[in-house]
Amino acid sequence: MKKIIDPYGSELPQDYTKLIKDFGLEKFNPEDFPSSNRLMRRGVVFAGRDLKIIAKAIKNKKPFYVLTGIMPTNDKLHFGSKMIVELMAYFQKMGAQTYILVADLESAAARGVSLEEARRRAMEFHIPAYIALGLDPKKTIFYFQSQNRDVVQLGFEFAKKITLNEFKSIYGNADPGRIMSAVIQAGDILYPQLKERMPGIIPVGVDQDPHIRLTRDIVSRTKAKKFFAPSSIYTKFTPSLDGSLKMSKSKPQSCIELPEDVETACKKIRRAVTGGRATLEEHREHGAEVEKDMVFELLKQHLIEDDEELDQIYGEYKSGHMTSGQLKDLACEKMTIFMTKFEKDLEDARKTVSKLNFIKF
Ligand code: TRP
Repeated sequence: MKKIIDPYGSELPQDYTKLIKDFGLEKFNPEDFPSSNRLMRRGVVFAGRDLKIIAKAIKNKKPFYVLTGIMPTNDKLHFGSKMIVELMAYFQKMGAQTYILVADLESAAARGVSLEEARRRAMEFHIPAYIALGLDPKKTIFYFQSQNRDVVQLGFEFAKKITLNEFKSIYGNADPGRIMSAVIQAGDILYPQLKERMPGIIPVGVDQDPHIRLTRDIVSRTKAKKFFAPSSIYTKFTPSLDGSLKMSKSKPQSCIELPEDVETACKKIRRAVTGGRATLEEHREHGAEVEKDMVFELLKQHLIEDDEELDQIYGEYKSGHMTSGQLKDLACEKMTIFMTKFEKDLEDARKTVSKLNFIKF
């Protein structure tokens, strides 16, 4: 078996072990899937639901789909969304029918974004960004929630299958916008099965697991339509550069978004929490505490594709040959290459939006 570079990811940090336990998730095993991608090999993908059904469909070359939704709330992408796109691209390569929807009804109901504004953001930024990050536009089906009558109708049918109490127990609270968005999302998740019943996998942030649970409950109560319960797959968060669990816009100094001007991104990297020791002597003697190093984590999750290269950096840093300053220089260099390429690919993808496969209604 290939060596898995994962100095600490195979032993899940407490937070993730707790998530698995609290939500009743299935731990992800990269060996179940052929040609695992970087995120799968390195323990960044950590859990899911009903993953084996998808592994089996891939192995037996049976039809299945992969679907996710874009929330067009602003004109930036989070590193978490980049991971979702990479998983979409992986399943697409493994033969999945691929669906991307723009959650414009949800952004209206939950965030007050107008449908026009949502459309503009999706067409000018989000969809081109997804293509720039590796989605094959020719093999992807796109739609806007607001235009998909089938999805809206499913949402209304599903509304009858749940109670307010159940909703509250899954989501913690229940405001009208949330309820509307959740039933529509269940409609999205099952929509591809209206044509043909088949397994489907939904890569999303683990914060979306309540939607998956709700949809699975709805499936078990919608006998007439005989849907396959959806599978899901979750990635860990990209940690904030200050060492906290999740990169978040609320702490702009330690959050890098796509796109971001490279000088600003590098400044943030230089201020990141590292595993370097207090003095150079100590560092040379004991080596870095790689498991505490946010720059290494960024390299591991996003900036270095090649396992051997990452492995070598890990070794040099862990042994104290490489300093945290050198690691930061390297990360900055890689970030610059990545961001420059992303912006160029984004420009190119923008020119292709008029040719995409939007479902005609
Ligand atoms: N709720 C998702 C978000 O906040 C967007 C979304 C809508 C979605 N429909 C979906 C995600 C279906 C996955 C599957 O980002």
